[in-house]
Amino acid sequence: RSGFNAAARSAGKLYFGTATNNYQWNDSAYVTILDNLAMFGQLTPAKVMKWSYTEPERGVFTWDMGDQFVALAQQGGKLVRGHNCVWYNDIPAWVTNTTWTAPDLAEVVQEHCFNIVRHWAGQIWDVINGSSSRSRLERTHEPFNDDGTWRQTLWYNTLNTSYIPLALHAARRADPHAKLYINEYNTTGPGPKASALKALVRDLKAAGVPLHGVGVQAHEVVGQVPPLADVKRNLAEFVALGVEVAITELDVRFVGLPPDEGGLERQRRDFETVVRACREVEGCVGVTVWDWTDKYSWVPASFPGEGDACPFDADLEPKPAYYGVIDGL
Ligand code: XIL
Repeated sequence: RSGFNAAARSAGKLYFGTATNNYQWNDSAYVTILDNLAMFGQLTPAKVMKWSYTEPERGVFTWDMGDQFVALAQQGGKLVRGHNCVWYNDIPAWVTNTTWTAPDLAEVVQEHCFNIVRHWAGQIWDVINGSSSRSRLERTHEPFNDDGTWRQTLWYNTLNTSYIPLALHAARRADPHAKLYINEYNTTGPGPKASALKALVRDLKAAGVPLHGVGVQAHEVVGQVPPLADVKRNLAEFVALGVEVAITELDVRFVGLPPDEGGLERQRRDFETVVRACREVEGCVGVTVWDWTDKYSWVPASFPGEGDACPFDADLEPKPAYYGVIDGL
């Protein structure tokens, strides 16, 4: 069986990676495939670097689980994607339950970003993160709504758009060598949200704000992935603004379960489309799946009744989608 990362490297990409979670590492069959460098050359922590894990009380930083994550990646010779500094979700109560003045909240954001990026230096970082409006856990996007308007989050409501450059500058002060990204949901194809993000990237670059990449999360629905030409054009338009791009959280879920054979074939093509778009756009540096097996996918918990979104099934066996990834590379 060929490995995703080996194929990605042969195609001239930096890595093919996956999200993973410390809680899954007592599953030795899972860890065997996770560890295989030919399969995965990069890891993203699904949970353990998020705010509620890393700064549960103001100024009290808890590094243990993130350190374990980095150790696993580095022992395996893999790149690490730090995830994330500023999101509206997984924020501890001390942040959400306080009515902040703008200067105080600005300090809170900068302290958090500075400390985590400094602690886990030398990495790629999702400094600004976004998410879905449909999932149960995540009712909002950040920074943008699907129509391209700014999302009313804790950050935006108090700091307007200034939290974005504040966080990016704090991250650069913490680690001048880190690759700093904005990572957004629902930006795989062109549309109002991708356009708003492009305008933001243009403004930030023009203002000299440190920003090196745009992460396209790519949490997709089977049969709804935009055509290859559209995905490629979208990625290329980001690259033209002077940033690199990466597919950071790829999965393609079924909204009705269980899938039939035709569905699995459509899912194979959808994986192939997104992966091929990255392969064919210079400046798209790599692809990360948001876990590789249906056994540990986030989808069923966040989108009730939906799932089977990964290239390997719950028994860790490759699905047609596995071959879609290989073909796309
Ligand atoms: C998800 C994790 O996979 C879950 O384990 C967690 O409970 C909620 O967050 N976009 C992102 C990720 O940027 O951080 C989210 O991860 C999935 C959506």
